[in-house]
Amino acid sequence: MTDMTGRGKTLQSLEALQTEAVSFVGTLAPKEKGATLVTLSGELGAGKTSFTQGIARALGIEEAITSPTFVLEKIYDLPQDTGRSFARLVHIDAYRLEGEESLLPLGVDLLLPDPKNLIVLEWPEMVEGQLPTPDVAVSITVEPDITRTISYA
Ligand SMILES: Nc1ncnc2c1ncn2[C@@H]1O[C@H](COP(=O)(O)OP(=O)(O)O)[C@@H](O)[C@H]1O
Ligand SMILES: [Mg+2]
Repeated sequence: MTDMTGRGKTLQSLEALQTEAVSFVGTLAPKEKGATLVTLSGELGAGKTSFTQGIARALGIEEAITSPTFVLEKIYDLPQDTGRSFARLVHIDAYRLEGEESLLPLGVDLLLPDPKNLIVLEWPEMVEGQLPTPDVAVSITVEPDITRTISYA
């Protein structure tokens, strides 16, 4: 079960991480105002993109979710079942962004006001001060035995 209390939860495998992502998506719903922003922190290879893949699959995206490290941003239209769900998944990898207004070319100022957007951003540390406080800050820690610990704040 997903522990949303901010305490770490141990995940033994990639599959467990992606199952965790599916449970996590179930806790999210569009807000009245503004996009829902989820940040993913953790070292290179921790599983941030893999977690996003789990989110994408849970939202019904069939196409492969590749790491956006080189394209920086990918926007997926979501299949609409009810009016109460997100219309788009925006996956941003800020790893290669540098400078104070580095997010602007990605159109983030246009994406943020729309409650229909679920924005999942890897490497929030690289764009500090450029975004509102995230709705959920996810941290993934690599343990010495290759398991991962995930926590939510
Ligand atoms: N318990 C685990 N949870 C998540 N990923 C794992 C785990 N064990 C091994 N891996 C591997 O770690 C890698 C994580 O890669 P990725 O999701 O691209 O990381 P990041 O986006 O954080 O740089 C994948 O190759 C995955 O197979
Ligand atoms: Mg990544």
